[in-house]
Amino acid sequence: MAQAHLYDQVSEPSTPRSVADLFAERERSRYLTHSRYLNEQMVRVLKAIGYDVGFCRGDAQYLYDRDGVRYLDLLSGYGAFAIGRNHPALREMLKSVLDGEFPNLVQMDVSTLAGILAERLLARAPYLDKVFFANSGSEAVEAAIKFARAATGRPGIVYCEHAFHGLTYGALSLNGDDIFRDGFEPFLPGCQCIPFNDLSALEKALHSRAAAAFIVEPIQGKGVNLPDAGYLQSAAELCRRYGTLFVVDEVQTGLGRTGRFLAIEHWNVEPDMVLLAKALSGGHVPVGAVLARRQIFEKVFNRMDRAVVHGSTFGSNDLAMAAGIATLDVIASERLIENAARMGERLTRALDAMIPRYEFLHAVRGKGLMIGIEFGPPKSLRLKSSWHALEASRTGLFCQLITIPLFKEHKILTQVASHTSHTVKLLPPLVISNSDCDWTLNALDSVIAASERVPGAVWSLGKTLIANAVRAGA
Ligand SMILES: Cc1ncc(COP(=O)(O)O)c(C=O)c1O
Repeated sequence: MAQAHLYDQVSEPSTPRSVADLFAERERSRYLTHSRYLNEQMVRVLKAIGYDVGFCRGDAQYLYDRDGVRYLDLLSGYGAFAIGRNHPALREMLKSVLDGEFPNLVQMDVSTLAGILAERLLARAPYLDKVFFANSGSEAVEAAIKFARAATGRPGIVYCEHAFHGLTYGALSLNGDDIFRDGFEPFLPGCQCIPFNDLSALEKALHSRAAAAFIVEPIQGKGVNLPDAGYLQSAAELCRRYGTLFVVDEVQTGLGRTGRFLAIEHWNVEPDMVLLAKALSGGHVPVGAVLARRQIFEKVFNRMDRAVVHGSTFGSNDLAMAAGIATLDVIASERLIENAARMGERLTRALDAMIPRYEFLHAVRGKGLMIGIEFGPPKSLRLKSSWHALEASRTGLFCQLITIPLFKEHKILTQVASHTSHTVKLLPPLVISNSDCDWTLNALDSVIAASERVPGAVWSLGKTLIANAVRAGA
C-alpha cells in the first residue's frame, strides 16, 4: 500500500486559528516536524547536548521552557535581542504600524519611516551622509562590497582571518574560517585574507591599489578578538593612503553592545561605511543598514536610470523601519549603552578575579556586553590528561564542559565563541541587571570549579562528549 504523504495527516482547519493556538497545539512536536521538513542535523545537535527543552516564551533577558522554568539568555539570538525579547515599546510600535494601514512598499514612492530612521542613525555618525537599508547583516555586507567596487572602480576586498560577515556568497568570500567555506567554492574573485591585527600584512595587501575596501569587525565575533591599541586607527590611515575604503562591520558590535553606540568610537575612527543589522530592529523584524559617505552613494546611484541599481523588494519596509525607530528610542530612554558598559565592566572584572583560582581559566576579554572567557591547558599533571583526552577527540570540546552544565544546572544559555575555539562567549541583552550578573558569576564559578574536579560528574559528561565526537567523526 502506498504510504500516505505526511501532509495528508495534518488536518487543515476550515477557519483560521490564532498563532497562539497553532503554537500550543504543535510546539511539542517541533523537533519531529523540524527533523522531517527542515534541518535534521540541528535537531540532532540539540538532543545530543540536551538543549531540546522546548522554549515557549521570551520576556526581556529571560526564556521560559514548557514547564515554566526560567533561563537567563546570554546569547540574545546572536545579539539581535539587545533590548530584550518582546519589549513592550517595540510591540506597541509594531502593532501600530499594522493598525496604521500605511502604504507600505509602494516601490514607486519613497518611505517616510526610512527617512526618519536614516536621519536618526546618521545623527549618531555625523561624518556619514547616506543610508541604504537591507534585510539582514549579510545583505548589508553584499551592498558594501558592491558599493566599494562601484565607488573605487577596483575589484579587490581585503578581510581578516577569523572574520565573520555572513553566509551569502559575497559575505562568505570574506569569511575567515574554513568550516563555513568548505564545499562552497569558488568564491568571489579578488578577495584577500590577512591576519587580524597585522598592519604590515594590510599595507602589503593595499599596496597594489587593487583593493576597493578593507572590511573589518572592530571586535571579531568569532573568538571575541580585540584589536591591538592603535590597530584600527592605523588601518584607517593606511586605507586612506592607498585609496581603499575603510568599512567596519558593526552588525554584532553596533547599537550599544560594547558600551558605545558604535564599537569603533572606542578608537575614535571615522570609517567610510558602517554596517548594522541584528539589534537594529529589536530582533523581531529582519533588517540591515549601510551608513556611507555621500561620495560612495554618488558613484553607485549616479544617474536616474540607475536609481534602483541596488535594492531589494523588502528593503525599508515599514515594520523594520518602525522597529528601528522604537529600538533607538528604547536604547536612549533606558540608557542601555551605559548599562552595557556598567554590567560588562562588572562581569569582566569579577571573571578576571577568578583567573588565579582556576587552572583551566586563562583569560577574559571583551568590551561592554561582548565578553570572551578563554580556557586553556592546565598546569598540573592531575588535570592535563583529562584536557588532552578531550582535545584529542575534537579541538574546542572543553568549552562544552562549561556551556552544557551552565544550561542544564544553572539555566543559562551561552555559546562557544567559534568552532574549535577555547572561548565561551557572553552576548546578553543589554538590559541585564545586577542580579543577572550575580546569577552568571555564581554559575560560572561553580561550573569551572566542577570542571577541575577529576574524576567528577563533569568529566562523565566529558566521556560522553568524546564518545559523541568519535561517533560523529566516524
Ligand atoms: C559581524 C557580522 N557580520 C555579518 C553577519 C551576518 O548577519 P546576518 O546573519 O543577519 O546575515 C553577522 C552574523 O552573525 C555578524 O556577526
